[in-house]
Amino acid sequence: MNLSELNRVALAMVTKGKGILAADESSGTIKKRFDSIKLDSTEEHRRTYREMLFTAPGAAGAVSGVILYDETIHQKTRDGTPFAQYLARNGMIPGIKVDLGAKPLAGFPGETITEGLDGLRERLIEYHGLGARFAKWRAVIDIAAGIPTAFAIQANAHALARYAALCQENDIVPIVEPEVLMDGAHSLGRCAEVTEQVLTVVFDELFAQRVQLEGMVLKPNMVISGKKASERAPPEAVAEATVRVLKRHVPAAVPGIAFLSGGQSPTEATLHLSLMNRLGPFPWALTFSYGRALQDTALKAWGGVPANFAAGQTEFARRAQLNGAATTGRYAPEMESRAA
Ligand code: 13P
Repeated sequence: MNLSELNRVALAMVTKGKGILAADESSGTIKKRFDSIKLDSTEEHRRTYREMLFTAPGAAGAVSGVILYDETIHQKTRDGTPFAQYLARNGMIPGIKVDLGAKPLAGFPGETITEGLDGLRERLIEYHGLGARFAKWRAVIDIAAGIPTAFAIQANAHALARYAALCQENDIVPIVEPEVLMDGAHSLGRCAEVTEQVLTVVFDELFAQRVQLEGMVLKPNMVISGKKASERAPPEAVAEATVRVLKRHVPAAVPGIAFLSGGQSPTEATLHLSLMNRLGPFPWALTFSYGRALQDTALKAWGGVPANFAAGQTEFARRAQLNGAATTGRYAPEMESRAA
């Protein structure tokens, strides 16, 4: 393991003004996204869509890295350049999703365990050869009556740390993603409580399994009301609660925290990030690693129509730039109408 190289990459991933594009939707998830624009999920459509995002003029200035899916890291731009190579040449670090998804946890109804540890070392070696310098593993924790259980949190944290240690062994920066879902009707307070439990156990496991904190990036949920909550906490409350929880649980040795958007609207996700950055300085960088919040409006603008390729790119670059501004607290909702 080369810790100084891992630390250099981790710092580059969370550099001010930039964040990460999560474009690692599995075949099932991208099909759902394409269904929303009535587009068949063929390999060529998936390739074209990813090319639209990666080559969007003006986006690279706000994108430090891109998380790819196994199929995507094997694909090329129209002119034959492998995506990973294209990204690296344009200053965006290629990353790769390596988990194989959250599956039902036997004996624990309503809870999941993320799979993918078997054979992971060999896959990491292959992905490093293809240019990946960081990876992602997503653990999923749902909130409902009687869940999450302490056991499900422990099992998921254990797997996250196993993954992270294997990544570092192979000179790949692990993005450690314990996602507390915002799907339920729970309050912000309940989300805070569960997020605290999860982060406590995750960092215990990372220490126990000798993961070097300087060579990782944390990808947490924000502390936020459930989508179905009757009363949703305002943006300022989300920012304050999220920062409070992270200060309590994330050691200063971690270079950066890159949030998932988790079903927030694009403008909410940008505003929350900006409000948090205004509460700094912090020992770590706070940035984005958004999937839906960066892509949703671009996907609609494109709509699978070749003539709208540039319109999709303009929209993606706009959202990336607005989120880039949010990493320094300089985003304001008024910028929505002026940007790009
Ligand atoms: P969302 O921002 O859409 O939550 O996706 C981020 C991600 O990579 C989830 O694993």
